[in-house]
Amino acid sequence: MSRAAVLCGLGGALPERIVSNEELAAQLDTSDRWIRTRTGIGQRHVVAPGQSTSDLAVQAGAQALASARGTADRPDPGVGPVDLVVLATSTPDRPCPATAPDVAHRLGLGNVASFDVSAVCTGFVYALATAASMITAGVAGRALVIGADTFSTILDPADRTTRAIFGDGAGAVVLRAGEAGEPGALLGFDLGSDGSGADLITVRAGGSRQRSVPGPAAAGEEFFTMDGRPVFTRAVLDMSRSSQSLLERVGWSAAEVDKVVAHQANIRILNAVGEQLGLEEKQIVANLDRVGNTVAASIPLALRDAVAGGELQPGHRVLLTGFGGGLTWGSAALVWPELETGRPHR
Ligand code: ACO
Repeated sequence: MSRAAVLCGLGGALPERIVSNEELAAQLDTSDRWIRTRTGIGQRHVVAPGQSTSDLAVQAGAQALASARGTADRPDPGVGPVDLVVLATSTPDRPCPATAPDVAHRLGLGNVASFDVSAVCTGFVYALATAASMITAGVAGRALVIGADTFSTILDPADRTTRAIFGDGAGAVVLRAGEAGEPGALLGFDLGSDGSGADLITVRAGGSRQRSVPGPAAAGEEFFTMDGRPVFTRAVLDMSRSSQSLLERVGWSAAEVDKVVAHQANIRILNAVGEQLGLEEKQIVANLDRVGNTVAASIPLALRDAVAGGELQPGHRVLLTGFGGGLTWGSAALVWPELETGRPHR
């Protein structure tokens, strides 16, 4: 049996404060009805002043580590100390250095390898592929993979579209070295990008192209912007194509997949991907009504909710698929393992 990366822990964290559609409608020219019918979102969680991406990442990471330790109470030859932390985020605590070393330090993981991965909403799938590859290559033995974002900190307060969609959160998994035939083993990845769409989802200022020193950026250019319609079309196309290509490689038909956990961008996008792949509604996991689009946290938080709600069961064939800024997309497949998941997140 060949060496593989095996998922053995899962966690998630959401900030306490909930912002309802009604609260947004009291501030902006929007309505609960518009947001629900156009996106499927009913509320989102938002960080408190001073609360950062690393704060959520530490909470989600601690929960995933506790879950992995609980799972490890059963005989588990692949258990060892975490020696790698990969954090997917587009809202790091600071532009430099990466946020992962601080998260690893605060989790008490010692001098482990740690770095950030930037692929916006596809970040978690990219981070998962990176960590799994490092495990199968023998560079790491056990990895904490976190997707965490606090997009509320970079949204234009006056932009009704982005404020309706995005929420803050963090989700995390633990991967350990194991064997390809085990439940939880990552069976394959499909990753891609198209930089010709770089302007569709962007924060213009603050990098080396549009510098915020010596003077402040032009008004509004520090905010996140998204061109919704083309992004919608590409999200459907790229997640469908990436899923299809991975399914072919793994040798599963769409009907054989028990749960598709796609990036929670918009319920209409999830339904359109389902239609493209010929899926039934019961195969599609959706938690965006409660959390909105949490960017890199979206897929692990949806996994966490699906497990907590009993929708995702050991033995299920699971397809993960994401799409985001870059443009980037990516998919992963695994058979869901038995996990100790601790208390459900909010
Ligand atoms: N409330 C009321 N009206 C609104 C709102 C709002 N919150 N937001 C936009 N509108 C208006 C628009 O201004 C527009 O009005 P107009 O016709 O007078 O110009 C109208 O609604 C229709 O706008 P569209 O952009 O065409 O609306 P659409 O149905 O496409 O929905 C949305 C917009 C929700 C952004 C959708 O395009 C979408 O979900 N796009 C994809 C987002 C996504 O997948 N992101 C994933 C990647 S994100 C990342 O990587 C960080």
